[in-house]
Amino acid sequence: MRSADQYLSFTNSGFGKWVTGSLGLPQPVQLARRQAGKPDLRQPVLMGTGAGGRLTEPLAALFRSANLVSLYHSENDVWREAARRHEIMTARYTAETSGKVGALLFDATGIEDAIGLESLYRFFHETVRSVGTNGRIVVFGTTPEDAGSTEAAAIQRGLEGFTRSLGKELHRAIAVQLVYVRPGAEAAIESTTRFFLSSGAAYVSGQVVRIAKPVAKAVEYDPGKPQAGRTVLVTGASRGIGAAIADLFARDGAHVVALDIPPAAAELDAIAERLGGSALPLDITAPDAAEAILSDAKRRGGYDVVVHNAGITRDKTIAKMDAGRWDSVMDVNLFAPLRITEALLSGGGLRKNGRVVCVSSLSGIAGNMGQTNYALSKAGLIGAVQRLAPEAAKSGITINAVAPGFIETQMTAAIPFAIREAGRRMNAMSQGGLPIDVAEAIGWFASPGSGGVNGQTVRVCGQSLLGA
Ligand SMILES: NC(=O)c1ccc[n+]([C@@H]2O[C@H](COP(=O)([O-])OP(=O)(O)OC[C@H]3O[C@@H](n4cnc5c(N)ncnc54)[C@H](O)[C@@H]3O)[C@@H](O)[C@H]2O)c1
Repeated sequence: MRSADQYLSFTNSGFGKWVTGSLGLPQPVQLARRQAGKPDLRQPVLMGTGAGGRLTEPLAALFRSANLVSLYHSENDVWREAARRHEIMTARYTAETSGKVGALLFDATGIEDAIGLESLYRFFHETVRSVGTNGRIVVFGTTPEDAGSTEAAAIQRGLEGFTRSLGKELHRAIAVQLVYVRPGAEAAIESTTRFFLSSGAAYVSGQVVRIAKPVAKAVEYDPGKPQAGRTVLVTGASRGIGAAIADLFARDGAHVVALDIPPAAAELDAIAERLGGSALPLDITAPDAAEAILSDAKRRGGYDVVVHNAGITRDKTIAKMDAGRWDSVMDVNLFAPLRITEALLSGGGLRKNGRVVCVSSLSGIAGNMGQTNYALSKAGLIGAVQRLAPEAAKSGITINAVAPGFIETQMTAAIPFAIREAGRRMNAMSQGGLPIDVAEAIGWFASPGSGGVNGQTVRVCGQSLLGA
């Protein structure tokens, strides 16, 4: 699918770069995605810590376990000392001698007033030019509702504006995120920090994630094979994004149960065989589908992860939309996932520390011409995730959603050229994402280490200008 974006290949050739540069056209950078056997986390990581930052110890523990090399900003004595204590490789950053860095991390969790905020300004003002192509920036904040004063809450909420603007300023495929950490949730930041430093987050930018203290006890897992020993149901797995999700979970060590409509049984069998998984040919809108899925789950001792990926579009403006288009989209995209989730949660079809991930859409956030039905169904999933999260948490289960923007698949290949081209370029990365980008974000939600991330929707859209 990557070759479908010929403009991206052209601008990355010497001649193409010259032509597009001279004409002032967008110059998308080839996103660096995960490659087997290659280091996955961006480094060295340049560390900044605002006064009172709460994350020095958990970050130091992560740097030690992931063997990350760090640099520290001149004001950051806190990190210099922590690095010495934890025997982490570190050196003082200087613009002249340090060269390009892979990532910037700034712990703003303790910033409560104007003076504290100046340290954020100085850190980014002095270091941002040092971030290399495909670099990563993560700012950590404290959830504004947990801040100690109005000023602190305003500053913490303000970080959203800061990180989103930074994402729009930086080209060269640098992804910027804000991670709010609730007091008491410090120990739960590892899987999210790893994800945002990794090549898996290539097409995720301008996002805001909240981490709460997980209900389920932390479990040991291998970050290189986080799904080992787990069973994962993926709906709509015979092609497109669903096939990429199935591939990713198999890569990460899971037994994949690949579900799709019975007419796709041959493709499904081929996928199941290739991944050493199982095929489950089933229409999720069939009257007995939820029951059939629950009994499959029980036969396997419960699923650890369920990914509601199956989805359809039946576009027409509302005045021209017949009831069939409306009903089919509601049923496949919204009501079937609701029935299945309900059956699995109430029937014991999900194991402890289980994960449910819904595939929503940018349409469900921004709205889209001709997609009143589709956008309703996809926004509905976001509502369902918010509503179910506290209930699911009681069983140590999380439920979240990804909202893909423009992803290169058969669905988007069918869009007329001019609209397709606009959809591709209207984001901070100036290109469409690939199915693997969506799969990687789902893999992060589904990680055994992501128990603190619940009830959230994260966009995989290259920081699209739509609905931002
Ligand atoms: N491609 C994009 O740019 C994009 C953007 C945002 C969201 N999404 C969402 O991502 C998901 C996957 O999209 P895609 O582009 O891979 O689409 P796709 O059409 O290539 O794949 C969807 C799969 O779902 C299956 N499916 C449809 N109805 C089903 C049913 N009743 N029971 C079981 N399986 C069923 C289809 O057979 C197909 O294999 C969808 O939910 C879609 O809405 C896609």
